[in-house]
Amino acid sequence: MSKEKVISGIRPTGNLHLGNYFGAVRSFLEMQNEYDCMFFIADWHSLTTNPRPEDIKRSVRTILTEYLACGINPEIAPIYAQSDVPEVLELYLYLNMNAYLGDLERCTTFKEKARKQPDNVNAGLLTYPTLMAADVLIHRATKVPVGKDQEQNMEMMRRYARRFNQMYNVEFFPEPANFSLSEKAIKVPGLDGSGKMGKSEGNCIYLMDDPKTIKKKVMKAVTDNGPTEPNSPKPDVIQNLYTFLEIVSTPETYKYFDDKWNNCEQQFYGELKKQLVEDIVRFTDPIRERIREIEAAPERLDRVLKAGAEAARESARTTLAEVRHIIGFK
Ligand code: TRP
Repeated sequence: MSKEKVISGIRPTGNLHLGNYFGAVRSFLEMQNEYDCMFFIADWHSLTTNPRPEDIKRSVRTILTEYLACGINPEIAPIYAQSDVPEVLELYLYLNMNAYLGDLERCTTFKEKARKQPDNVNAGLLTYPTLMAADVLIHRATKVPVGKDQEQNMEMMRRYARRFNQMYNVEFFPEPANFSLSEKAIKVPGLDGSGKMGKSEGNCIYLMDDPKTIKKKVMKAVTDNGPTEPNSPKPDVIQNLYTFLEIVSTPETYKYFDDKWNNCEQQFYGELKKQLVEDIVRFTDPIRERIREIEAAPERLDRVLKAGAEAARESARTTLAEVRHIIGFK
């Protein structure tokens, strides 16, 4: 039996942090072994905010470097740049012919971006969902790993698949299902007391942070005055530290500090933070090492992108030939 086709788009938005790792990247690593997976870097989509050319180039290479360092294996799961697969654009055009202005304008992602950049409400922004649909439908993929924020875009994608099928009376495009990342994701807290590590929160520990930087960030973590009675519930800021221990430390370490809390011991936060620094560094060290290896031999990135584009274009051409035939072109 052939495996289900999974396609995942990656926004090239700078460096990966621990929140990204435990949110999406780890699931990708599992998926690439279980499914017929392809990953791509959505560099066309990034044009909706008009970045500078040098920024696009750098951000694609940065994100690719880090995904490879995390263990995405292009031998089993091709990874390509969206802009290397021009077939996507032809499908984007066809889909746009059946995408209605009203639907597109109602998308919350569109409304949000329009609010954020009122001087640049461009057609690319409006048709973001049709380009995203083309990304996936071009491979006739059936599953798409996405976060909660992409659910509406996924609904649009299914609508376009359905509409195409109905319009031409065919069963050509499958309706791609969301592959919810949030089920498997571990939500990494911020160490500034906030519940979530995120770029916009400015509280990230990046995979490429060196041990000194990690130490500085962890030692600054928000705490309180310590437990006041045995076995009391942990306040949020302290729970955040323990969630971190759960993620990067051993169960023994977790228990060691959990006992301290429950026994109402005092002044152990310094020790806990030191332990966290050590365990985060141990976790990120091999990734950082591989980032450095790739940076030392950047030709590897070109090879990966070239092979990825070839695989993607082959799959895309097959779909597009049939689409043209269905629509009535030669
Ligand atoms: N919109 C996605 C995001 O913001 C990125 C993306 C573009 C994507 N095309 C896609 C994701 C196709 C999955 C499939 O994260």
